[in-house]
Amino acid sequence: MSSPNNSKNQISEALVGGTAPDLGMPTQLCLFEGNLDPCTIVIFGASGDLTSRKLMPALYNLYLSSAWPNPCCVVGAARTSLSREEFQSKMHAGIASQGNYDAKKWQEFAQGLNYYAIEYDSQASCQGLHAFLRNLDGRHGTRGNRLFYLAVPPSLYQTISHNLGQAGLGQESLDGQGWSRIVVEKPFGHDLHSAMELDTTLHQSFQEHQIFRIDHYMAKETVQNILICRFANSIFEPLWNRNFIDHVGIIAAEKIGVEHRAGFYEQAGVLRDMFQNHMMQLLALIAMEPPSRFEAERVRDEKVKGFRSLKPISAPGSVENLVLGQYEAGQIDGVTVPAYRAEPGVRPDSLTPTFAVMRVFIDNWRWRGVPFYLASGKRLPQKLTQLIIHFKEVPHSLFANIDLGAITPNRLILGIQPEEKITLTFQTKNPGATVCLRGVTMDFNYYQNYHGPMMDAYEKSLIDVMQGDHMLFWRQDGVELCWSFFSPLIEQCESCAISEKLIHPYKAGSWGPAAAQPLLNLILA
Ligand code: BG6
Repeated sequence: MSSPNNSKNQISEALVGGTAPDLGMPTQLCLFEGNLDPCTIVIFGASGDLTSRKLMPALYNLYLSSAWPNPCCVVGAARTSLSREEFQSKMHAGIASQGNYDAKKWQEFAQGLNYYAIEYDSQASCQGLHAFLRNLDGRHGTRGNRLFYLAVPPSLYQTISHNLGQAGLGQESLDGQGWSRIVVEKPFGHDLHSAMELDTTLHQSFQEHQIFRIDHYMAKETVQNILICRFANSIFEPLWNRNFIDHVGIIAAEKIGVEHRAGFYEQAGVLRDMFQNHMMQLLALIAMEPPSRFEAERVRDEKVKGFRSLKPISAPGSVENLVLGQYEAGQIDGVTVPAYRAEPGVRPDSLTPTFAVMRVFIDNWRWRGVPFYLASGKRLPQKLTQLIIHFKEVPHSLFANIDLGAITPNRLILGIQPEEKITLTFQTKNPGATVCLRGVTMDFNYYQNYHGPMMDAYEKSLIDVMQGDHMLFWRQDGVELCWSFFSPLIEQCESCAISEKLIHPYKAGSWGPAAAQPLLNLILA
């Protein structure tokens, strides 16, 4: 770990040596150093993709780090009938391909992996799980602390939550030991009504402090950094409003297609899959007012106030507000990929949008009149997640008498993926005898000066659930406000009369439909 003194020495050594010093402040490694309660982590949907691709590697990485409860048991639960050894070897396949695989550590980790074949709709099966968990508590000392992770299709959330409640697994002991927490993956409902219904069911078995509505975007390192950038620096906040910001762009572009998720995606489309949740969280971080303290409820309060100020979008069909698209066959990185409608499980006449760009306004004092342009789509030319603050033009050009062309307004780019960095573009004079402007960029790479381990979003989220920290999770009022904004719009878009006209085709590997280009240019220009 680099101490402040070491870093000072490095700077002075660099000065003595005549090389350019890195004047960044000393990097403090933010490793987890607390104690986590002993617990059992139960993953429903243990034979699914999310478990093998994300959750199990995240748990294994936590095991390798210091952020691991002791003792801790992991129970995979799914319909498939598997022995404990079969489950372990299934999980081994995913982890063995990781760069940090260590056979000895894996053996130790696998000791704690258990399997329970469950029938989700059977209360008796859930009672059996309760007995199974009690037995583990008795053998390993996990003290009745339980984390239930629903890595199952959303249609099962209510059944599982209900049966957990009936089996007494939602109950907590009054002394704070023996906690029970449930993690629900997005989407939280399909629209406002179903989101409220899901919440009612969850609350029949669990109290609000036990419920964690996960959105992995919130736990991405650089997404967390947005608040630090805004509120731990004094230079940005005075400019962070309608007086200085012309517009804001938020883009989450993906190269991948629908993959094998057509069953879900056909019902969701890009608005439910990316906008109602991830894009809204990114928007909230840019738009929210400073909370009085960096505490879960204070931060979530401010985000919710932002959602409450969203101005409803009406009239889909006006390309100034919303453009939807669906990918056709094309090429990505030189490889030919099929059209969305030719993907396995997709209806040949599907009208599900795989791309959207929209203009959103936040009707409050700070943001009145500032457009936020949001874009996301699948099968675009590159993976790119960025928030781009476009500042206003200079109020008056002193250089009007010199032909300099347009002065490009300043831009602050918060890069999330693939490059995690912050860049600020501004104008300078080109070296030479004449006055010539040159746009330059000041770059900060997020991992500058940092050589410690990285933490993936699922690892961070799991630690937070084990600690009972809700900061990076959705609160139900936020979910409902975002559905109130999106449900009427999605309903209008899906109405038979207009949906066909709204979906613009685009070639896989392009930046979306032609109709979207004017809005996209505003984001990326
Ligand atoms: C998920 C969506 O929530 O986020 C996927 O369901 C999408 O469709 C994914 O591909 C994108 O996440 P990331 O972290 O790769 O940007």
